[in-house]
Amino acid sequence: MRLLVTGGAGFIGSALVRYLVLEGGHEVLNVDALTYAGCLASLREVDGRPNYRFLHANICNREAMGRAFAEFQPDRVMHLAAETHVDRSITGAADFIQTNVVGTFTLLEAAREYWSTLKAGTKNRFRFLHVSTDEVYGSLEDERLFTEQTPYDPSSPYSASKASSDHLAKAWQRTYGLPVVVSNCSNNYGPYHFPEKLIPLTILNALAGERLPVYGKGENVRDWLYVEDHARALALIAERGRIGETYNVGGRNERRNIDVVKTICAVLDELFPANRPRDELIEFVTDRPGHDARYAIDASRLEDELGWRAQEDFGSGIRKTVEWYLGNEWWWRPLRERYSGQRLGLVNNAAD
Ligand SMILES: NC(=O)c1ccc[n+]([C@@H]2O[C@H](COP(=O)([O-])OP(=O)(O)OC[C@H]3O[C@@H](n4cnc5c(N)ncnc54)[C@H](O)[C@@H]3O)[C@@H](O)[C@H]2O)c1
Repeated sequence: MRLLVTGGAGFIGSALVRYLVLEGGHEVLNVDALTYAGCLASLREVDGRPNYRFLHANICNREAMGRAFAEFQPDRVMHLAAETHVDRSITGAADFIQTNVVGTFTLLEAAREYWSTLKAGTKNRFRFLHVSTDEVYGSLEDERLFTEQTPYDPSSPYSASKASSDHLAKAWQRTYGLPVVVSNCSNNYGPYHFPEKLIPLTILNALAGERLPVYGKGENVRDWLYVEDHARALALIAERGRIGETYNVGGRNERRNIDVVKTICAVLDELFPANRPRDELIEFVTDRPGHDARYAIDASRLEDELGWRAQEDFGSGIRKTVEWYLGNEWWWRPLRERYSGQRLGLVNNAAD
């Protein structure tokens, strides 16, 4: 298949591109604007492969997207390009509205124009997979799980912008017949994860003997999925997902943030001992405004219909992840030097 992937230089996008190119043998065009979160070094393994191409372009650029479709003639779009960090969205939401909402709209329009010109056979085969997050469902306060029927109730500018983009994708299916499928996944972790997010930040701070900030009391629960399991799920959904449907993706691995941080400390202490236990570096800091209490995914539809299963549980996945960071300083050191680690996402509502 010919797959146009947006955001393929990001964390999940690069795992997906590596999977599609190296294991799937597909033709891949990676369209990425290379924002602060985009990193071509994550694609070193596929660079130079005859079935991989990179296009440096912004999804908000209608003309560039039109050209990409016309020249590459994809069978599938897998749309991951987005602004993704909740704290950044609180400090400045404009880029989130621009890329996640306007960019998705622009890509849907470019896809629709291209799709409408296709001949019957290729037209029937075409799919647009819109990749989204479980954060659109808001916060779970009890024991329930998010299903595909859970009403949207986003809390942050990030999740609100992703919810908007999901609505656009579904509307383009219902109104124009564009063959759209949507996926909503829980929190990912794994190799090549930008060091501003909880897990890579904790690993790298702990390695450097720096403090390990934990928001609030660390009670917030996330349902962690190893990124390569997500990549396999996306490939399956793009190939066989039903048009107009949503597929929830999650690893059934709920953990409190404080337990995630303590587990990382324990794995690091074992693999790379320091002169004192790393959990002494934990420091509780002011909570994120609007911090959702709990996310947890019911992935039954994906498991029952498409036969997907997560291959890693949190214990095996976090060990692999810590080992990867220990062995790949060439990748994270330059990013860590560029990224200040400054606390973002605090709101000061006091009138001056
Ligand atoms: N990280 C998670 O835990 C998670 C969970 C569920 C869903 N998702 C979704 O998966 C997708 C990928 O997430 P991620 O964590 O890999 O993101 P990321 O921040 O690591 O990467 C985003 C990529 O998109 C590119 N990009 C940003 N704006 C662009 C634009 N205007 N035009 C073209 N490219 C642009 C960036 O350069 C970067 O390469 C997002 O849509 C996100 O909402 C993420």
